[in-house]
This record gives sequence, C-alpha cells and structure tokens, in this order.
Amino acid sequence: MEKFPSARALARSLAPINPVTCLRPHAVRRAVHFFLNAFPGEILYAVKTNPRPEVLDEVYDAGVRNFDVASLAEIELIAGRYPDARMAFMNPVKNRDVIRRAYEEFRVRHFVLDSEEELNKIVEATGHAQDLSLLVRLAVPNHHSELELSSKYGVQPDAAPDLLIAARQVASRLGVAFHVGSQCMQPSAWGTALHMVRDLILKSGIILDIVDVGGGFPSVYPYMTPPPLTDYMREITAAVDKLPISESCEIWAEPGRALVAEGASTLVRVEMRRGDNLYINDGTYGSLFDAGSLNFIYPVRPIRTEGRFQKPLIGYAFYGPTCDSLDHMKGPFYLPADMREGDYIEIGQTGAYGCAMRTKFNGFHSDETVVLRDEPMLTAYGDRIAAQNDTTTGLSGSAVLLEQMK
Ligand SMILES: Cc1ncc(COP(=O)(O)O)c(C=O)c1O
Repeated sequence: MEKFPSARALARSLAPINPVTCLRPHAVRRAVHFFLNAFPGEILYAVKTNPRPEVLDEVYDAGVRNFDVASLAEIELIAGRYPDARMAFMNPVKNRDVIRRAYEEFRVRHFVLDSEEELNKIVEATGHAQDLSLLVRLAVPNHHSELELSSKYGVQPDAAPDLLIAARQVASRLGVAFHVGSQCMQPSAWGTALHMVRDLILKSGIILDIVDVGGGFPSVYPYMTPPPLTDYMREITAAVDKLPISESCEIWAEPGRALVAEGASTLVRVEMRRGDNLYINDGTYGSLFDAGSLNFIYPVRPIRTEGRFQKPLIGYAFYGPTCDSLDHMKGPFYLPADMREGDYIEIGQTGAYGCAMRTKFNGFHSDETVVLRDEPMLTAYGDRIAAQNDTTTGLSGSAVLLEQMK
C-alpha cells in the first residue's frame, strides 16, 4: 500500500478523483496499547467497527487475541485470519443455523443472549452442548452516549435474575454483559451499570465467571471532547472492585470506536460550492454515515494543491455525491471562506464506523486506500489540548488546523 507523509502530500501527488481512505496504523497501535495496559481485564476488539484486514492485523499485532463478532461473515473473517483468536458472538439475536455453524465449524463457545427464547435457541442449535459460555446482556442506562443501544437489546433489570438463573442451568461458564451506548461522554455510566450488575448478583445469588463492560469508550471530535480515558479506567476499576465476584472472574471490554476512530481519515474532493454548501465526493452512504445520520461533526483540514487559502473560517454543510437529499451532513464544518471546486478536505476520525458503513448506492464506491505517517488531527491519547476548546470550530486542536492552512 502506498505511503505518504500527510494527506496534503497525497493530494499533491495523486490528485485523486475518488475519496481515499487514509490509514494511520500507528494511531491504532497506540490506542490498543493504551487499552491493553490500562483496562483491568481482557480486551475484545469489536470487529464491526472496522473490519479492514490492515486494521485487524494492527489490532492483532498489538496483542489483542479476543474478538467480539456479530455475524457469520465476521466469524469467518477472524477464524480465517487468526486461528488462535477467541471469538465471542455478541449479537443478542442470532439465526439458529448460524449459531450451529459458529459452534460446530468455528469453535465459538461464547454467546450472548437477552431472552429465554434466545437461550433455548442457543441450547438447541448447539445440540445441548456442555461447554457453553453464556453472557446475559443487561439493559443499562444509555443517557451519556451519542448512540443509544439499550432500547434494542438487553434484559430489563427486573427480569434479569430469572434469565440468569435459567442460563446457569445450561452454561459451563456464565457472564453478564452490558453496553452503555456508543461514544459515551461520562465515565460514571460504567459506575452506574456495574452497580446494577452488583445488584443482579446479589438478587440472583449467582456466581459469575465473566463481567463484560462492553464498548462505548469515546473518541475525540469537535464539540465532543470527553474526559481522559484514564478517568474511564479508574471508574471501571473502582466499580469492579466492589463486585461480589471471585479472583477467577474474567473482566472483559469490547471497545470499537476508541481503538480505531483516529486510525483513519478520508480525503475528499469538493465538486461544487453553492453558498455555504460544499458538494463533496463522499457522504452519508459512503464513509461519513455518522455525519449524515447522527450529525457528528468530524475535524476537517482544507487542502489546496496549488495556491493558498484565505484565513477566515466559515461554517459549511456538506452534500454527498448520491442523488438522495438525505446525503446531507449539516455540520457545521469550519473551513476557509474561499473553498471552491477542486479543493480537497481531509476529514478526520473516520476509522470507526466509516469505511465499515460504505455502500455502493448510486454507483459511488471507492476502495482507494493509502497509509499516512503523520499524526491524526485529534487524539484521545497522549498530550492533547483538551482544555483549549475553540468556541467557533469546537476543535481542541484548532490552532493546529489554522497552522496547516498555509
Ligand atoms: C455488542 C457490542 N459490543 C461492542 C460495540 C462497540 O461499541 P463502541 O464502538 O461504542 O466501542 C458495539 C457497537 O455497537 C456492540 O454492539
């Protein structure tokens, strides 16, 4: 894969007409190392976040051997690439035949469930296997997250003790899992959820073998600067210490976004400007799903291959290339006032739920990928300028952005 020192060098060298995924493997490695060192337990990478082989290899090479998988395709991918990996099938509603194949062909032993129907399905589909590790997913408050997940999955706390007791009858190992929602901005969400796990253990009288605190760890975006990740680790460690569990109980986390968000950016081209709207060549149906559907504001860096920009920044909205008016990312994305056709924009933090969400809708699809050696525009790791928020752009690193417009 071609390597460039920066997105600017890439734009100047190739002048690409399609969007280009710019991987920063070193940023993935740094994030994985942080989690492996700071989390008090096992790390399972949530494959859905970014299943690109280069990203998976970086996660694996950094030391992760556990993977959270949600579909047969993800299971095949991980089993084919890493024969020594341990997979946990963490989708609470699964197809019977897929459960059977996961168990028989791919040696998956860990399955999540949030209902008695799913429990029976797993038991039947695995032929009443005696070596199942079953995790009961508990619904917990998702108040502090940008993407709520608990209305879809999770057994309610009042029904959880019965489900846990039923699972205990057939499980060789038993666990509880939860998800506080994606991009969770408050470490206290884990304290609250783990307190609920404590109540559940006391009410059901069950001995747990696994406590899985899920994903939800945040990345940094303009207007969304979370507390340092060390605060999250501290909160979790303190709450786990209060659980009535034995030394041998495994503690798991399934981070996705926090491991890979800053591991990629996307270089897009401006095809048209209409007022404060920039029509770009990637969008909601491409790698910018979160910008269109959840109004995420990504960090942006303007690139002009010849000449200079004027300094003042103004807020733009983006339209993507498809004919659908939902292909709209309202922003605001702060860029120079004189943006025009042919300019490029590096859109940062697209490593999580970016290329993974890409469709071929309307014939727009690009697999062009390069490696960049420079640092991501924003980072949740190392010395970031967290306190120095710029109220215009919402960027903690806006000083860096202005400097790079030269
Ligand atoms: C079961 C499960 N685990 C982990 C994750 C990863 O979450 P995040 O990317 O917020 O860390 C998800 C995301 O949807 C999930 O559904």
